[in-house]
Amino acid sequence: MIAAHGGRLVNRIAEGALRDDLLARAKKAPRLTLNAREVSDLEMIGIGAMSPLEGFMGSYDLGSVVNNCRLANGTVWPMAVTLSNKGVDAKIGEDIALVDENDELLGLLELSERYSFDKSEEARGCLGTDDDAHPGVKYLKSIGDEYLAGTTWVLNMPKHTLATNYRLTPRETRVLFKAKGWDTIVAFQTRNPIHRAHEYLTKCALEIVDGLMIHPLVGETKSDDISAEVRMKCYETLLDKYYPDDRVVLAVYPQAMRYAGPREAVFHAILRQNYGCTHFIVGRDHAGVGDYYGTYDAQAIFDTFGPDEIAIKTLNFEHAFWDKIAGAMASNKTAAATDPSDKVFLSGTKVREMLVKGERPPIEFTRPEVADILIDSMASKASV
Ligand code: ADX
Repeated sequence: MIAAHGGRLVNRIAEGALRDDLLARAKKAPRLTLNAREVSDLEMIGIGAMSPLEGFMGSYDLGSVVNNCRLANGTVWPMAVTLSNKGVDAKIGEDIALVDENDELLGLLELSERYSFDKSEEARGCLGTDDDAHPGVKYLKSIGDEYLAGTTWVLNMPKHTLATNYRLTPRETRVLFKAKGWDTIVAFQTRNPIHRAHEYLTKCALEIVDGLMIHPLVGETKSDDISAEVRMKCYETLLDKYYPDDRVVLAVYPQAMRYAGPREAVFHAILRQNYGCTHFIVGRDHAGVGDYYGTYDAQAIFDTFGPDEIAIKTLNFEHAFWDKIAGAMASNKTAAATDPSDKVFLSGTKVREMLVKGERPPIEFTRPEVADILIDSMASKASV
């Protein structure tokens, strides 16, 4: 089985006597309330999805990530994973109890550094822009100026009500893949319902590997993205009817979206390696937003690393569309159609307009069962 990124699958979930000891320490420590992204990062660190990270980043690592796309020790790492202070006064070496917005205890931080970092520099490095209209930049500028670094422990997993049957940790997906006898596994990241283009990518990939893990991101997304709850219904319905039962696993990826385009594609890939996947799908404008990134920047970035720096392999796909001549999904690599009028591309905005009006987008764009779930969800949203 593929090794975790950095060589070892981290486990920062405290159990047994260690947990009892840490709970006693947390009782005496000042409490810091985490926002939604920080809660999911704490969970991801705890379960080893962020291996080799064992906590929130210090200034050496952050500076190196921002400027070199690597941790201070040279391991490829594309995104900031930081914790913002919200008024806690603690000294280096002390503990901070980490709580959610309902003041429920989640974990403990062993404080190793307090520091601030130029937000515009961080944004330019990780997000490729410091434009305030970018959702990742907006987030960065909304949080406090001081970061707290240190190793973390999860004492209580965040309480989830969504997709509870699909929450597999990297240890669990690794056991599952082994039990299925899969040596090669492709992961598919998405923050959308699966439309025909996504289906084409995943099925092409399935032709060359043993198994597919559909791994939708269910952490925080922009308010205009379709909710994870509705998407889960779409995935279940689609998989049930249109995919082979025995070659596909549906599990959720509990991370917040950064909308960082190329850097986030690398992030998405190495975290899926931690889940035991050997291949990762990167299509057009992966993790993009607006027009901040070039269509294939998220594929090209992988060529900037040495051959041994990232073990998971990317499967790159060009923009997929419906080819009217062939009567099938295609890309410019496979299409018979050459005339643009024979290629059906549908924009997300256009599809949304149709769904809001209660109209099914054409079957060339989305399966009717998925369209119906989306129409229902928009109708019930409108009636609230
Ligand atoms: S993302 O933020 O998770 O990347 P989305 O859910 O839209 O957004 O995309 C999931 C994956 O499918 C990404 O790798 C993306 O590049 C790819 N993708 C989406 N639409 C297309 C398309 N029409 N052609 C090729 N790849 C696509």
